[in-house]
Amino acid sequence: MGEAQVEIAIEEAGARVRPEIYGHFAEHLGGCIYGGIWVGEGSAIANEGGIRLDTVDALRRLELPVLRWPGGCFADNYHWRDGIGPRDERPTRLNLWWAQGESNAFGTHEFVRFCRMIGTKPYICANLGSGTPEEARSWLEYCNATQDTTLTRERAANGDAGPFDVKYWGVGNENWGCGGSMTPEHYANLYRQFATYLRRCDDKIALIACGSEPGFQEWNRRFMDGLRGCESLVDAIAIHHYSGWGMPGVGYEDEEYYRLLTAVESMERHIEGAARLCRERSSEKHRVGLIVDEWGTWYREAATERGLRQDSTMADAIFAGLCFHMFHHHAADLAMTNMAQTVNVLQALVLTEGPKLCLTPTYWVYDLLKPHRDGQVVPATLRGPWLTLDDGKRLALCSASATSRGRQMALSLVNADLSGACQVAASLTGAAVEEVASARVLTSSGVRDHNTPDQPDVITPATLEVNVVDGTVRTVLPACAVAMIELVLAD
Ligand code: AHR
Repeated sequence: MGEAQVEIAIEEAGARVRPEIYGHFAEHLGGCIYGGIWVGEGSAIANEGGIRLDTVDALRRLELPVLRWPGGCFADNYHWRDGIGPRDERPTRLNLWWAQGESNAFGTHEFVRFCRMIGTKPYICANLGSGTPEEARSWLEYCNATQDTTLTRERAANGDAGPFDVKYWGVGNENWGCGGSMTPEHYANLYRQFATYLRRCDDKIALIACGSEPGFQEWNRRFMDGLRGCESLVDAIAIHHYSGWGMPGVGYEDEEYYRLLTAVESMERHIEGAARLCRERSSEKHRVGLIVDEWGTWYREAATERGLRQDSTMADAIFAGLCFHMFHHHAADLAMTNMAQTVNVLQALVLTEGPKLCLTPTYWVYDLLKPHRDGQVVPATLRGPWLTLDDGKRLALCSASATSRGRQMALSLVNADLSGACQVAASLTGAAVEEVASARVLTSSGVRDHNTPDQPDVITPATLEVNVVDGTVRTVLPACAVAMIELVLAD
């Protein structure tokens, strides 16, 4: 059995984990919206006004802080007026990027209603690639304005007299690629134009600019150079970072699994570079934040013809757990992260098949790690086992992350090792443990195990045994596990 010692320095509590680090992303792609969220009022699947209720119940439990919509690549070819008004009069369009039709049955009102049902804040990505500044600005007015205008009257006539209060506005998506194949300089000029009108229309919104992908990290600096003098028009740069390309979602080799986990470090380098630039271009008056707008696993089988659907095994849970630990480490810089995507697409939280639904291991990681939100990151130094991969790359097999909120402390642990359990001993300085409030673990005897709509309960969290002996928190983490221990600290 492996052994790991964790030293937790409560007295050094630092940056706050913004709840938005646990945000999400839903696009008009494959079965994410249609089938996964929207089934229509006439469906035999239980729904409220067309929105499927089992998905709502599952997501409400997670209290997702924010949901980004309508894309993705879809966003830069989406014209919002197509998705308002009587549903039977809405046009059917081509979903250009995902080779499917778009009925427009799910539009702005339906999205905001869905967000309200699951208790999340809406984040809209406006169309810069093929739209106009006026189209984006009028969408914002339609959503947020409180004055009596033709657009707010139209919103009321369509069922919502009150404003939607959409705070987060993306200005284009992947504009280096599907969002218009632009250079950063061209995008910067367009961004200045769009953002000027959006800011003027509502100065309380957060304006989010398209940032880099791993292969084009230079984009951020060139974009910010092009923006000189107008930095206050950018509240955050949003980078995208997918992992796991080329490997299968289920039938992977152990080596492929470990290699996926080393991708967390590549993402960290991407975040560090972008965060450095954001800090450099921030001033006392205006801070440029950093968002990881799309992230997660993208496996071989997630092809366009399959609507980017893939299975999600314990590998995804371990990967997500390690990513969140890394995000906590950068909590001072990270304003938000949104995993791709909420239902039926890529590293989904929920998979549906007709009337059936299952929660993925990744869903349970979001659930387990909830106590970290809004906590202050506490240094947790771990000494434990390492693995050396065939190419000499080294991987820490155990990971810990701790946060505190007054007398509450959350300690999450990951054991990535497939070969055995790990005995963990965590000692605290700066405070003593009064009691263990709860302890849960997500694990399975096989890393490739996964839930499916037909077999939804293969992987669910279980109680973890934890003891406090002479002030040291002791537990045995099974092989391939993510755990959350909630502690109450003594006064
Ligand atoms: O999440 C799937 C796609 O990945 C998004 O539409 C796009 O932004 C990214 O390339």
